Amino acid sequence: MTVLVIGATGEIGRAAVATLSRRYDVLGVSRGSEPAVDITRPETLDALFSTHEPFEAIVVLAGAVPFAPLADLSREDFEAGLASKFLGQVEVVQRGTAHLVDGGSFTLVSGLLSDHPVPGSAAASAINSAVNGFVAGAAPELPRGIRINVVSPSLVSDEPQYDGPFAGYPIAPAAQVAQSILRAVSGQETGRVLRAGW
Ligand SMILES: NC(=O)c1ccc[n+]([C@@H]2O[C@H](COP(=O)([O-])OP(=O)(O)OC[C@H]3O[C@@H](n4cnc5c(N)ncnc54)[C@H](OP(=O)(O)O)[C@@H]3O)[C@@H](O)[C@H]2O)c1
Repeated sequence: MTVLVIGATGEIGRAAVATLSRRYDVLGVSRGSEPAVDITRPETLDALFSTHEPFEAIVVLAGAVPFAPLADLSREDFEAGLASKFLGQVEVVQRGTAHLVDGGSFTLVSGLLSDHPVPGSAAASAINSAVNGFVAGAAPELPRGIRINVVSPSLVSDEPQYDGPFAGYPIAPAAQVAQSILRAVSGQETGRVLRAGW
């Protein structure tokens, strides 16, 4: 049985694919893959699901959020972030549920900005919180023993020091985040926010 990873070519996605591949068959996709999957274009999800056997797990490691000072964040900025990282992941769950095996799982992604904002993160912090809330609310409603969790990484980097806007924040190597993703896929928890690195 196969684990679908959406966002497989990203910083976290590459590490997740490497870790999950030791235990599962993995199909990694993104907008640039063949088949292409864009979580903001739900028809691309349906096309993928219609041509594959049910998946054992679906992992989403994609979704963009805007960063800008609050005074500069427009309604369009918020809508774009919500459409991508929030509604994009919601669509994966709603459309993907019928294409998971009994007892399968979803693993979504949020981030520590939900709890620890930095200047410019008002939209990102709100959207990460929305994803966490969605997972808590959706878990009890999923059928057939299907689980759902969200991995919330701290700043992901393989460099031990960072001196940008996140200076002083905890840093997690991508491989450490991948371990939390493996825990979400292979474990028994549901409705949880799995903090990775913080
Ligand atoms: N990196 C961090 O420090 C960090 C920390 C906390 C949370 N996060 C969150 O973790 C997630 C992944 O972060 P990352 O750093 O790994 O990102 P990344 O390196 O930019 O990679 C993003 C991945 O998602 C794919 N992608 C982008 N938009 C997509 C879409 N609309 N539909 C399907 N695939 C899409 C990209 O490939 P294509 O361009 O080919 O589509 C790529 O595979 C993001 O939601 C981010 O907010 C990251």
